[in-house]
Amino acid sequence: MGRGNPNFDIRDARLARKGRDRTEWAKKSMPVLSQIESAFRKEKPLKGKTLSACLHVTTETAVLMQTLEAGGARVSLCASNPLSTQDDVAAYLARELGIRVFAIKGEDRATYYRHIRSALAHPPDITMDDGADLVSMLHSPNGGSATPIGGTEETTTGVIRLRSMAARSVLRYPIIAVNDADTKHLFDNRYGTGQSTLDGIIRATNRLLAGSTFVVAGYGLCGRGVAMRARGLGANVIVTEVDPLNSLEAVMDGFRVMPMARAAREGDFFCTVTGNAHVIRREHFLQMKDGAIVANSGHFNIEIDIPALEKLSSAKRTIRDFLDEYRLRGGRRIYLLAEGRLVNLAAAEGHPSSVMDMSFANQALSSRYLAREGRGLKADVHHVPRDIDREIARLKLRALGVRIDTLSAEQKKYLSSWETGT
Ligand code: NAI
Repeated sequence: MGRGNPNFDIRDARLARKGRDRTEWAKKSMPVLSQIESAFRKEKPLKGKTLSACLHVTTETAVLMQTLEAGGARVSLCASNPLSTQDDVAAYLARELGIRVFAIKGEDRATYYRHIRSALAHPPDITMDDGADLVSMLHSPNGGSATPIGGTEETTTGVIRLRSMAARSVLRYPIIAVNDADTKHLFDNRYGTGQSTLDGIIRATNRLLAGSTFVVAGYGLCGRGVAMRARGLGANVIVTEVDPLNSLEAVMDGFRVMPMARAAREGDFFCTVTGNAHVIRREHFLQMKDGAIVANSGHFNIEIDIPALEKLSSAKRTIRDFLDEYRLRGGRRIYLLAEGRLVNLAAAEGHPSSVMDMSFANQALSSRYLAREGRGLKADVHHVPRDIDREIARLKLRALGVRIDTLSAEQKKYLSSWETGT
């Protein structure tokens, strides 16, 4: 609904009420962002700024959009993945908040990129990205000549792409790596991805995990969360890795670690979270058991080599929402979830609000920092200022009702001295 309308392209405006109710529910678990929203409403730090955001269109994103608008920004929003949009939220933002929204769950590739172009139609002062597709588009030959004051990036894969642009001196403006803030990746990537990935796999399959063998590819922050939660549900977890340190950590955390070539024979469930390409490929499909279930929770749908799976298959059919059966020649079946896209956002609702509270507090405060200081920053990838990160941790603890100790004068002196030994 709205094709050709410069202000929105959404599935169905009649879903707005549902989107508003669900956003209200999410907001109850987002005390830090709500506090920032109140401050923004008074201070208007983004007054007169145009902001283009490319994020998963979820209830938590709606709370972030409310915050940015409260701060005085004019926002355009598109999806950062074709399958992650919650259509009721898109309707709420477009119809009730007047935000320019271009996002439809299940949109095809051409529509996905058209929507990114629409979100850039008003040249942005600030960009907010999740995966760097918006920034890439802005740097492409038909991306226009706008040079924003600055931008923010939400996820690991986006930060990797932006660092590569900066290293080749093609990045035109400064970007803050929100992903790298401690109050983001230590919580969102681990606890958010951990819980929501299992949620997505369970909703798509309704299978029991207890007693199954669950293979997690990648033991970074997301992989740790997925492995921890799969074990919590009673699965025997195997980790595959390429990094010796992370492998060692997985071993000492009590997981079996082995190459995918061996894990492929053992797994009932597979989940990739590496940010890398073709981690599960032809030779692995050929080893898998009949009935193996394969999913991805990394940013792009390239971690599983789907073209190779298609080539090996004689038939394909959709059995349930987000669950496709591939019948291999010879009769074995492999089940692919959510077309290999982020299973937690496609088959479930993404991270719980409480954890997005901190990620999006970083987004909001980083955009205020860019509005104030962005012009003085180099065209490079920058850290979230340390005081923002610590302030978010303090606010979150306070919201949780957790109090902590403070250093005494004697302790401060001791920690800054070297004279005292045994
Ligand atoms: P990370 O860099 O902390 O971890 C990735 C791990 O994968 C590293 O330990 C690396 O050694 C390993 N790896 C790389 N190639 C591999 C291979 N061929 N086989 C096995 N292991 C391999 O990254 P993080 O933060 O865990 O993110 C992983 C992916 O998940 C990224 O694409 C990120 O953007 C995405 N992400 C997804 C979220 C979601 O909602 N589903 C949320 C946050 C991040």
